[in-house]
Parts: sequence; C-alpha cells; structure tokens
Amino acid sequence: MVERGALIDGAVLAAKVTAEVGNDVRALAARGMTPGLTVVLVGDDPASAVYVGSKERTCIELGMRGETIRRPASITQSELLDIVDRLNTDPAVHGILVQMPLPKHIDAEAVVRRIRPDKDVDGFHPVNVGKLWIGDTDGFAPCTPAGVLYMLRASHVRTSGAECVIVGRSNIVGKPMAGLMVQPGVDATVTICHSRTRDLAAHTSRADILIVAAGRARMITADMVKPGAVVIDVGMNRIPDATKKSGSRLVGDVDFDSVRPIASRITPVPGGVGRMTIAMLMANTARAAAQLGA
Ligand code: GUN
Repeated sequence: MVERGALIDGAVLAAKVTAEVGNDVRALAARGMTPGLTVVLVGDDPASAVYVGSKERTCIELGMRGETIRRPASITQSELLDIVDRLNTDPAVHGILVQMPLPKHIDAEAVVRRIRPDKDVDGFHPVNVGKLWIGDTDGFAPCTPAGVLYMLRASHVRTSGAECVIVGRSNIVGKPMAGLMVQPGVDATVTICHSRTRDLAAHTSRADILIVAAGRARMITADMVKPGAVVIDVGMNRIPDATKKSGSRLVGDVDFDSVRPIASRITPVPGGVGRMTIAMLMANTARAAAQLGA
C-alpha cells in the first residue's frame, strides 16, 4: 500500500535540530566560547520584524548571543556598509544576517558581498554560493533549502535518482535548493521551473519530489501532482479570511486540501518548512563559531 497524505512535521524536526544545536553550544561554552548572531533590520516591515524577533529569541533560548541592530529605512548605503564592516571585525559576532528585503535605494547585492563569507550564516555571499555548488561543506547553505533537505532526509525520502522538480528560481530558495539536490549523496535529477516555464503542469506532474517556492498562493493544484509524490511547500502567503480575527490567514503555494490525498507526504503551512529555517540558521551560527575558533 502506498502511503498517502502523511504530514512532514516541521515543528518536530525543528525541535530536533535546535536540541542538537543546544548540545553544540554547550560544548563550545565548555571551551569558553559563546556563539553570537547579529541581525541587521532596516525599516519597519512587520513580517520582517516578526522573523527577526524569533531569530533573536531562539538564539537566547539556546544560550547563544542574539542581537538585533535596528535602523530606519532612511539609512544610507555607506552607513549600512559601515555596520557590516564593524560586525566583520567584532570577535564576539560569528554570524551576520542582514534581513531582506532592503529599501529600494540600497544595493542589496553590495551589502551581501561586504559580509565576511565565514560569518555569512545566510549563505548568500558568492563564495558560499560557489561552495554549495562544488560541494565544499565548510561553506554555509541558505537556511530554507538546507531545512528542506534536512526534512527529506529525516523523513527517509529516497532522493537518489528521484525526479525533483523545483518551482521558483530565487537566489534564496530555488537555485540553492537545486544545488543541494544534485550533490553526490543526494543524487536527484533536478528541474527548475519558473514564471516563464511552458506547461508547468507537465513538469510538476513528473516529480517524485516537488518543491514549491514561487510565492503564489495555492498555485499547485491536485491535477499537477503525481500520485505518491513528496510535496514540500515553501510558500508563505497571507490571504484575506473574514472568519479570522486578524482578517487574514497564512497559506502555502500548494493547494493543501486537494493535494494532500494525492501526495505520499506533504509539509503543512504553517508548521512546515518555515519552522526549519530558523533552526538551520542556529545550526549555521554554531558552526560559524566553531570554525572561527577564537
Ligand atoms: N527574508 C526572507 N527570508 C530571509 C532569509 O532567509 N534571510 C534574510 N537575510 N532575509 C530574509
């Protein structure tokens, strides 16, 4: 019997990762070291403020130093680069994360390139992008795709030779996800689809593993999914819902209710991939501290 509609529980797996990071932090503490993450938050985007708050809280729960530098959206490029320069040389800071998106007048690429690659726990610096693709494991992989791969492994999903179709080609999720899935040891056959892909359904319906990170609410419907596929939903879309006190609710890029009975395993939104991202950030920060020594 083929298993159908089993949930991959992000909360349970994230708790497992953070427990492991807690052990690493205690081992580093025994050597007199406290891993430290500094997040730079520019402007007052409410969603970013929520993410950044939980990053700082999780650091502190794990016994790491978690600091947030908040600056108004009016900050200049050179002021922001000065902050990065200061963090690059601060020995108490092992991980630096500049929360995206940044205001339009800031060159986000230039900011990312200014971060020391060995403190770039987001894995966005070109050095870390290159290390991911060549399989150099002392670099940092972006947290969301790293979290997805962890979920697949922890759920014993067979990746070797599997058809893996990724919907979305962002530098934060789609592209690095492809890089991780083709590495030796993972060994999937990867297709990346995007907004210009002809006949998206023809691709998605071939997937043994379908990973969706397109940012479009419930775009993947049951007719686009192969029976028995593993479906990973990276989407986080807020849609109006008059039955909720807030007037809205969070949905993924997958039409969960119709796809769940077809999939063998599926991640819910919320409670799926989102929970993993912060856990992997904590893991990257503890490893940055260990690698930096000091
Ligand atoms: N904004 C949304 N996701 C991310 C992330 O993973 N890192 C950063 N720096 N900003 C984000």
